[in-house]
Amino acid sequence: MTSNIVWHEHGVDKQRRAELLKQQPRVFWFTGLSGSGKSTIANLLEQKLVEQGKHTYLLDGDNVRHGLCGDLGFSAKDRVENIRRISEVTKLFTDAGTIVITAFISPYRTDREFCRKLLDDGEFVEVFIDTPIEVCEQRDPKGLYKKARSGDIKDFTGIDSEYQAPRNPEIHVKYSDQSPEQTALALYEQLVSKGYV
Ligand code: ADX
Repeated sequence: MTSNIVWHEHGVDKQRRAELLKQQPRVFWFTGLSGSGKSTIANLLEQKLVEQGKHTYLLDGDNVRHGLCGDLGFSAKDRVENIRRISEVTKLFTDAGTIVITAFISPYRTDREFCRKLLDDGEFVEVFIDTPIEVCEQRDPKGLYKKARSGDIKDFTGIDSEYQAPRNPEIHVKYSDQSPEQTALALYEQLVSKGYV
């Protein structure tokens, strides 16, 4: 597939672009169950970063699956391909100097590690949005857990499709009774204190 194709070096490189944007490119990789709050917190975090003058881009599962990954379903094979494509996109965005936030279930450890390895050292920051399935199911914002329980949807993460929780995430956001705004702010402060922003 990749034979007869040669990589081209360009005159403007990643470092130059990052310097121009006055920031360190990163990928804040959110992982967690459907309904765990990934998109909500990612969205609030992005707003906070932009307020601080950062150049960001948010890649969100539900949106990306309308376009770039619109041909993919939820079989294990399709999920692997979904995350592979997203990982390659994060590589391009970080090369452009951008701080990327991703919000995908990304249920498999090996796929998340694939993205980590694709990026430069220290660039990939795994953020585990650790909300118990009972809470996600109670929220059920899209009615999908109900459908999964009744058998209308199959291969649903946490019901009849596996979720492999991170073993050692850089950031662990444990479910609490804090508001999404408070959670996002605490997350932002952690990212700053750990030197990721
Ligand atoms: S991933 O597993 O490949 O990372 P992704 O984050 O892109 O999933 O998409 C998850 C979203 O698709 C969920 O938030 C939910 O709205 C929707 N969805 C539809 N069918 C399923 C399913 N079988 N399992 C999980 N999510 C599903």
